[in-house]
Amino acid sequence: MTTPKDTTGVGFIGAGDVAVLHAAAVKKCPGAKLVGLWNRSQDRAKQRAAEFGCKNYATPDELVNDPAVGAVFVLTNLESHLEYTKLALAAGKHVLVEKPVGVTVAEIEEMKKLAAAKNLVCMPGHNYVYEGGMVRTRELVEGGDLGKIVSAYVMYNIHHPEEVAKRYPGVVRQILTHHSYILLYLVGRPVELCAMKATLHYKEYKEEDIAMVQMRLHSGALAHFCASFAADDHAADPWTVMVKVVGTAGSTRYSYRDHVEIKPGLVHSQTYTAYQGSITNEVRHFLIDCLRMGQKPLSTLDDAITAQKMIEAAEKSIADRSVVKM
Ligand SMILES: NC(=O)c1ccc[n+]([C@@H]2O[C@H](COP(=O)([O-])OP(=O)(O)OC[C@H]3O[C@@H](n4cnc5c(N)ncnc54)[C@H](O)[C@@H]3O)[C@@H](O)[C@H]2O)c1
Repeated sequence: MTTPKDTTGVGFIGAGDVAVLHAAAVKKCPGAKLVGLWNRSQDRAKQRAAEFGCKNYATPDELVNDPAVGAVFVLTNLESHLEYTKLALAAGKHVLVEKPVGVTVAEIEEMKKLAAAKNLVCMPGHNYVYEGGMVRTRELVEGGDLGKIVSAYVMYNIHHPEEVAKRYPGVVRQILTHHSYILLYLVGRPVELCAMKATLHYKEYKEEDIAMVQMRLHSGALAHFCASFAADDHAADPWTVMVKVVGTAGSTRYSYRDHVEIKPGLVHSQTYTAYQGSITNEVRHFLIDCLRMGQKPLSTLDDAITAQKMIEAAEKSIADRSVVKM
């Protein structure tokens, strides 16, 4: 298959749940085309290639070396992100790699080094920051329009059945990674934190389904995270996904509940339009703003490294029952 010169050909490594959102995003992106995918299990690969109307590559090497592919999306599970990101960068392809980007800080640093050496874009899949409400909040914070920032909150309460949760690490890695890069983007990094976790609704799976973190930020403000797969929040004005920044001269709110469709959304009980929407915006930023216009990702591999340090600090705090300095 050949790709027209003004079209960026995309290849997916991994064709699980999140690939469905990325395929819809590429379809909506002007000047982009999903050329093909590779998935470890062939049943899933064939099904998804038919669904997306793209090629099914026999191997990841074949995918990254296809001249029709200019950008590779790494959409496999966390443990294999480094392997496939390295493969794509070595073949000279730009990469969008899902979050959490790496298992360790060293893995993300390796990706950063290789991308820089090859002069390629390697962008973390930090989708939430590509929402209009997030960008506006950052502008208000940066411009001083909210006054002195006193607090920030990132809350997530979306029930995930045990069989879905088992495919992921616990919510500390799986969900607090989102919270960490959101906090970095909006108000900056913490200097100390303490965390707690619990496992409340799984029958067998041992990883945590709820975690909370308290932080003191560089600016002196305080921040709070909650991530839960244990239960949906059904109350009025629910904290399904809620981000708040409060300052002495104003405050902002971002909520998944601004747009709700009454139908199941992948593993969610309802469709939160912002889930697909943020990935659509992220993919557009990567393929158009970064690859064509030379702009930077809104959240970079450096932010992924700091986010990973925050996750590791939260894990240490949980293990030692201590406040951890960063
Ligand atoms: N940004 C978001 O909001 C968001 C949402 C969901 C998932 N994710 C991330 O996307 C990635 C995939 O998640 P998913 O929900 O699609 O999971 P999934 O389990 O539905 O799909 C993962 C795919 O990776 C493949 N895979 C697993 N281990 C592999 C290995 N070692 N080598 C090659 N292939 C392997 C599986 O065959 C499967 O097709 C994860 O990193 C996850 O954290 C991000």
